[in-house]
Amino acid sequence: MKRKEISRRRFIGTVAAATTGMVAAQGMTPIFAQSKETSGSLALLGGTPVRGKDKRWQPWPQWDSEKFDPKMNEVMANRVWSRSRKVTEFEQKWAEMNGSKHCLSTVNGTNALSAAWMQSNIGPGDEVICSPYTFSASIFGVLYKGAMPVWADIDPETFQVDTKKIREKITPRTKGILPVHICGYPSDMPEIMRIAKEHDLFVVEDACQAHLAKIGGKRVGTFGNAGCFSFQASKNLPIGEGGGILTDDTEYYDRLYSYHNFGYASGSVSGQISSITALILANKIRMSEYQAVIGLCQMEKLEEQHKIRNENGAYLNEKLAAYPGVTPVKLHKGEGPTEASYYIYSMVYNQDKMEGVPRERFMEALKAEGIPIGSGYPNDPLYGQPMINEVFKSDIYRKFYSAEELDFEAYKERNHCPELIKTFDSALWIWHGGLMLGTRSDMEDIVNAIDKIHNNIGKLKA
Ligand SMILES: Cc1ncc(COP(=O)(O)O)c(C=O)c1O
Repeated sequence: MKRKEISRRRFIGTVAAATTGMVAAQGMTPIFAQSKETSGSLALLGGTPVRGKDKRWQPWPQWDSEKFDPKMNEVMANRVWSRSRKVTEFEQKWAEMNGSKHCLSTVNGTNALSAAWMQSNIGPGDEVICSPYTFSASIFGVLYKGAMPVWADIDPETFQVDTKKIREKITPRTKGILPVHICGYPSDMPEIMRIAKEHDLFVVEDACQAHLAKIGGKRVGTFGNAGCFSFQASKNLPIGEGGGILTDDTEYYDRLYSYHNFGYASGSVSGQISSITALILANKIRMSEYQAVIGLCQMEKLEEQHKIRNENGAYLNEKLAAYPGVTPVKLHKGEGPTEASYYIYSMVYNQDKMEGVPRERFMEALKAEGIPIGSGYPNDPLYGQPMINEVFKSDIYRKFYSAEELDFEAYKERNHCPELIKTFDSALWIWHGGLMLGTRSDMEDIVNAIDKIHNNIGKLKA
């Protein structure tokens, strides 16, 4: 693609024109000189797509049969399928890759998060400040413990919990924080940990989407008391189902281990000889050997894939910065260089700067050009979902909270997060699967498709 970079003056002129309504009258100023790919009519309106069906994104998850089948066959033939050496090896490697003292694997990310809260000291009457741009799995554990989720709004430019809002929500009852590194972009962990230290709070990071993301050389999931990961099939480290908890606290790790294995003795959770004596109230959420083998195979390529995703992410961030209607989500500018997992490459759609064309219409046009895109979580905030009301009606909550605190309508109002609601209605999500591992030509297709729509935006209005 031949293109002429927009000069700064011309770009500012474009934005200024948009704000005075001139663009609406004259049509959008093209950002790049029109190339073969971006000058034709929109595929949605009968033109040729930027990316034809003959071009394939890489498949996801990936499996190198020649290399990995023998490893899988070996564990199947051994007939040791329940938790054993492979699971331990997987845990050691994941802990090491992240720079954490311990990793405990679990059946999935949901149970990793629940276990992390179950073995905390949080209980009824305590408040946990949660990031709201997520879904139910993030907070089951907080509710299992009888604690009250309190919601701090997000920063719409990063999609991450706004640390200033966390500070505003602190009360004498606050006992924990639940940041969610949503879309794989790191939350501001250095500041969250400063707040936690000042107020003696327990921090569980939901890093289920954020494998290998880091701030200033430190991986996310290693800042808080616990960092929880999902290895579900769509994730950057896909097993099918699987989860993991990172922690540096050995006593807490012992409790987590015991919890995931019927409450049996483990490390400092001791006191009985019998191997089937339950010492703590527990669960059984152990990973299987063949799952661990899949995880170990996937881990071989993860660091290299992470590098490619970050190169592609940086390329898209730079190129798409020229389009005022489609703004890439910003990486947290914390202490030191930041890397995302780019589980979801995210952008914010600004309808006003796209001649009033709705987000859904823009997405249709982009899909027609051959670029898969979604809008992320629907406008249905967790603090308003029936699950919370159901929990509020339970005996345990009625015993520990006042009728005012359990008034669901008042709760929703108290916890309303306006930036979250705006984000539900403006987010654009490109799922990493294969796509963020693409070549430079694949990335150019994404930029060209957006360029083409931008240049023809007026035609989408009808
Ligand atoms: C932000 C977040 N939290 C929690 C989970 C739960 O993980 P799992 O699906 O492995 O149970 C997921 C995975 O979908 C997630 O994306």
